[in-house]
Amino acid sequence: MASITVNGNRLNIDGLSSDTPLLWVLRDHLGLTGTKYGCGISECGVCTVHLDGEAIQSCVTTLGEVGDGEVTTIEGLSKDGSHPVQKAWREHNVPQCGYCQVGQMMMAAAMLRSNNDPTDEDIESEMWNICRCGTYPRIRAAIKSAAKEMQSK
Ligand code: FES
Ligand code: FES
Repeated sequence: MASITVNGNRLNIDGLSSDTPLLWVLRDHLGLTGTKYGCGISECGVCTVHLDGEAIQSCVTTLGEVGDGEVTTIEGLSKDGSHPVQKAWREHNVPQCGYCQVGQMMMAAAMLRSNNDPTDEDIESEMWNICRCGTYPRIRAAIKSAAKEMQSK
């Protein structure tokens, strides 16, 4: 039986070939529609999830590449919206249309795992996700707030 670990659960994915993109598995087979489709070629960041804690683009990552790794989607970032990034996004009222924001939050959460005091330059270089609505100033402010909370723990 083929399976994949998502948000801490081992889930059956029988019948899918190893070159199926992870994004299709998440949305179409597991019903985890928080992760969005944008460009499909790793250019926009809207499909970002974590694989073993690292940010990856699920549109260009195949099931075969996931293997026994642990995938985390926005649905699993916290049980109750209490991750510092989620709290900061609410505090700064970041989203406009909202489409890019799950990818933005997953990218920010992965960055803050390895760097909980990012400079403007760090944010500039690591947060390459595209936002059509131009919410970049609020994203930056929210990341700074989330970093502060993480430093105080
Ligand atoms: S949809 Fe994956 S990076 Fe754009
Ligand atoms: S909030 Fe609309 S694309 Fe980013």
